[in-house]
Amino acid sequence: MLNADLLAQIEAAATILHNGGVVAIPTETVYGLAADAANPAAVRRIFEIKGRPTDHPLILHLADAAQLDHWAREVPKSAQLLAWHFWPGPLTLILPRSPYVSNLITGGQNTVGLRVPNHPVALALLRAMGPNAALAAPSANRYGRISPTTAQHVRDELGDTVDMILDGGPCQVGLESTIVSCIGDTVTVLRPGGIPLTAIETVLQQRVEVIDSSASKIRVSGSVLSHYAPTTPLELIAHDNLWQRACELQAQGLRVATLEWSAFNEVHSTQNSIVRTSMPADAEAYGQKLYATLRQLDNAHFDRLLAEAPPQKVEWLAVADRLKRASYRV
Ligand code: TXA
Ligand code: MG
Repeated sequence: MLNADLLAQIEAAATILHNGGVVAIPTETVYGLAADAANPAAVRRIFEIKGRPTDHPLILHLADAAQLDHWAREVPKSAQLLAWHFWPGPLTLILPRSPYVSNLITGGQNTVGLRVPNHPVALALLRAMGPNAALAAPSANRYGRISPTTAQHVRDELGDTVDMILDGGPCQVGLESTIVSCIGDTVTVLRPGGIPLTAIETVLQQRVEVIDSSASKIRVSGSVLSHYAPTTPLELIAHDNLWQRACELQAQGLRVATLEWSAFNEVHSTQNSIVRTSMPADAEAYGQKLYATLRQLDNAHFDRLLAEAPPQKVEWLAVADRLKRASYRV
């Protein structure tokens, strides 16, 4: 349960938000940068702080699924089923927007992204905001960078450009929500994330397509290829070539760190300076650690990061997607 100190902070955050402020909030996926969705000036500040283009839509966070009808014009059966099964949780539904949703939030599109986060602090804050309130919140990072999974990450990256940072501990999921578009009879995944594709297919009892959003016209900011990127250039390398590549770069005088999910079963020379990071072999656990690890390695100022390519299995979709985008520049 929430202690008295945290409850007081949540009250203070609600007051700041009611007065048009911007507050970084914990969710189960990543930290968000929140503003009152009904206050255009506050929402505009989110774009300024992030350095995000204004045609990239924001998602709205709701206290519960009962508010769907207020923010969406139409809620197809598929969306009702998904909300019922996965909210509160790491699922964002894209639905036709209601007249209460401003152009500023949707980037001019006629759809809106909605989600009920599964974090006690976020939910308490949403309830404190009052009936039918929504918080517009993208991830609390600068545009194109890695999402923050602790309050300290937000402090490091946004500092005092935000009015308050609510500390709800490290994020349990660690990767962003799965975005599912439910328009008319068509259901598609626009961004793999915290809810596995197989779970969505099981609930809907149908196959669901994952759209490579980088190829579509829909402006999903995660669809910009160089998204979710560390500052240090990152290469995504198959297991069998990883060590050879690391040695090659080291021979060029570069400081190299690896991220490896398969067991460290080979004996490699210890007299070199290649730093090996052991990552979990389980997709969920890997996802939980990924952003924090990339930030840590970024801060250690290596010249190159080498990530072992993840298994080509459906449960690794979200991790594979983020690693691919993080590695684009090489
Ligand atoms: O887990 C999450 O979803 C986190 C936490 C804070 O809730 N939020 C998050 O927000 O990742 P953001 O803005 O970083 O990513 C949301 C994505 C963006 O890529 C945005 O373009 C897309 O959702 N999006 C929002 N509204 C949309 C719409 N109407 N149609 C298509 N994509 C949309
Ligand atoms: Mg983001």
